[in-house]
Amino acid sequence: MPEKKKHTIAVLPGDGIGPEIMREALKILEAVKQKYSLDLEMKQALIGGAAYDRYRVPLPEETLEVCQQADAILLGSIGGPKWDHLPPDLKPELGGLLAMRRMLNLYANLRPITVYEELKDICPLSPRILTGKIDLVTVRELTHGIYFGQPRGSTETEGIDTMRYRKEEVEKIARLAFSMAEKRRKKVTSIDKANVLHSSMLWRKTVTRVATGFPDIELNHLYVDNAAMQLILNPQQFDVILTTNLFGDILSDESAALSGSLGMLPSASLGDSTHLYEPAGGSAPDIAGKGIANPIAQILSVAMMLDYSLNLQHAARDISSAVRRALKDGHRTRDIATPGSDTVSTREMGDAIRNCL
Ligand code: IPM
Ligand code: MN
Repeated sequence: MPEKKKHTIAVLPGDGIGPEIMREALKILEAVKQKYSLDLEMKQALIGGAAYDRYRVPLPEETLEVCQQADAILLGSIGGPKWDHLPPDLKPELGGLLAMRRMLNLYANLRPITVYEELKDICPLSPRILTGKIDLVTVRELTHGIYFGQPRGSTETEGIDTMRYRKEEVEKIARLAFSMAEKRRKKVTSIDKANVLHSSMLWRKTVTRVATGFPDIELNHLYVDNAAMQLILNPQQFDVILTTNLFGDILSDESAALSGSLGMLPSASLGDSTHLYEPAGGSAPDIAGKGIANPIAQILSVAMMLDYSLNLQHAARDISSAVRRALKDGHRTRDIATPGSDTVSTREMGDAIRNCL
C-alpha cells in the first residue's frame, strides 16, 4: 500500500467566538481523520487580539511561519472591542487578518451560499420570492482595492482610502471566477460601480475582455446598488458573483442572510500556494464565551479545506451531508432557530454533526 500523504494544518482560533467554534470544527476534523485514516497534523498558532495580548503584535513571525509551512490554514475569527483602541497597524483586523491575506497573497475569497430546505422557514425572503433554488458563490477579490490602495491614512480632520485596481489584478480574479462558472451553471455576474468609479470602469472593461476566453460562459454586469437589490428580489438569477474586495465584503454578508444566518457561511481564501479557510462572519463579541455560537460556518470551512487543499472531495461531501442531516434532525443553534423553539449549544451542534458522520 502506498503511504498516506501527510498534511499539516495551521489552526488559528483567534478571538471572540473563534475558539468555541474552532473546537467543534476540530472535533469534526478528528472524526474525518479517523474515518478515512488520514495522516493529519494540526499546529495551533496565535493571531489577532489573542496574539497581541501575548506578543504585542497581531501577526507574530512564528504564526506566519507555521502558516507558510502548512498545507492549509484554518482560521476562526478576529477582533473585538478590547483591541479597538489600538493604532491601525496593531488592530487585529488590519495588522492580523489583512496582513496575513496580503502576505500569503490570498487573492480570491470564495463564499458559497446554500439555502437548506430545512431552514427555509427562517429565510427572510417571502415564499413568493423564494420559489426556485438559490445556489450562488461570491468570488471576492481579497488583496487589492480599497482595503489596501495607497495613499491611505488619517489625521485628526481627514481620513483617506484609495480604491485602485490594476489590469493584472482584475484579470487574475476574473479568470478564477470564469473557471469556477465552467463547473457550475456557466454564468458570471460581475458587480461594480462603473457608472461612477474609475477603478470600476477598468474592472468592467477587463472582465469583459477576459470573458472572450470563456465563450461558453454567460457574463452580465450589474452596478453594486442594483445588485444589492437583486439579491433580495431575485437571488435565483445568480450563479457566480465576481466582485471587488469591498463590494464582496458587503454583498456576501447580505447573501449569507438568505441562508438564514451569517453563522452558516464558510469561506475559502485561495492564494498561489497555501489557502486559508474561515467563517465569513466576525468574532461576534456580544455572544463570545456563552456557548451559543453557530459552529456550522467553521465546520463547512473544514469541508472546503478538505475539498480545495487536501483534494479529499469525498470527506468534504461527508461533512456537508452531516450538517444537512443534523439540521434535518432539528438541531438549531439560536441564530437559526424559529422564535420560541428549542435551541442547542455550540458543543451540542458539533456533537450532533459528528454523530451524523
Ligand atoms: C470578512 C471580514 C473582514 C473583512 C474584517 C474582519 C477585516 O468582515 O472577512 O468579511 O472586512 O474582510
Ligand atoms: Mn465581512
